[in-house]
Amino acid sequence: MRPIPESIRQRLGDEKTQKRLQIQEKLKQRQVSQGLGLFAMERFFSVNACVGGIISLCGMKKRGLSNILDLRIEQHEVILPGLPASFEGFRIMQLADLHCDLDAGMITRIREVIVTIPHDAVMLTGDYHNKVSRPFDLSIEEMLRLIPHLHPLRFAVLGNHDFLEKVPPLENAGLPFLLNESAAIEREGSRIWICGIDDPHFFLTHDLAQARSGVPANEISILLSHSPETYREAATLGYDLQLSGHTHGGQICAPGGFPIYRNAPGCRREHLSGSWREGKMIGYTSRGTGSAGVPARFHCPPEITIHTLRSSPLNGRQMHADASAPFYLTKGNPRNDALPGSGSGG
Ligand SMILES: [Fe+2]
Repeated sequence: MRPIPESIRQRLGDEKTQKRLQIQEKLKQRQVSQGLGLFAMERFFSVNACVGGIISLCGMKKRGLSNILDLRIEQHEVILPGLPASFEGFRIMQLADLHCDLDAGMITRIREVIVTIPHDAVMLTGDYHNKVSRPFDLSIEEMLRLIPHLHPLRFAVLGNHDFLEKVPPLENAGLPFLLNESAAIEREGSRIWICGIDDPHFFLTHDLAQARSGVPANEISILLSHSPETYREAATLGYDLQLSGHTHGGQICAPGGFPIYRNAPGCRREHLSGSWREGKMIGYTSRGTGSAGVPARFHCPPEITIHTLRSSPLNGRQMHADASAPFYLTKGNPRNDALPGSGSGG
């Protein structure tokens, strides 16, 4: 296992780093599991084998596999009163739950599609690996192939399938992670904030308050949270938008998209996929760009989401922010000097 650099330890904090490493070790030793469900790994790996067996017996294996490649582009318009004019029409691409080691064809397909979709930034909401206690070298290799195809304005957070050791190689390749940290995107003298937390589902090393602590009260803040489970606290803290994944929308669903498995305790059905609202905060849960556990999907296609920010509903106004306008990245709280292009035009 790769060592954890001191800089990562400082960013996440000693206590949370220690907690994460201890749980990771138990996962590797298979002393703990991530619970029941389609996406549960290791101790319950037979659940996935069972589901896969049933799919094969029903002659649905080929169809299920082709469904994980059937990427849909979901357009989500986000109305944020107070959005600076320079961010009118700003398009954020969300990639969720890539689980790169599940199927080589899947990640190739994702790489081909994302470069064809116009957008102004890309956010990755966690889970880059599938078999959580197994070595993640293949997932890192696939991510290293993917990163050069991503928009240069990009941020990522960790999910419950991700070990902390993934952060250094991916950041060195140009993908900055937000470990309970924030960063501002500036355009024409105005800015919005991207705040990212560590995994709030299993490792529980997240800190929403710390991630937002450097954001002025009247400025727009967007939370990257691997799981929608943080919806109540995020709304209370004043976040304007929460982007999540983790649920896969159920991945294998009954006709009509009704999820058979749920893996987000405390969440309502509406939080499992698509757009939702909590108080003044808008939320969105992706069905996942990749798939996990079993290389199959039914009645629940994978998605690449484009969130278009607007200050009010579109009424013949400018469709998109001026793509030629430069963006600037500034350091957030407590630090983020891994940002590509930090402090200079990109
Ligand atoms: Fe997850």
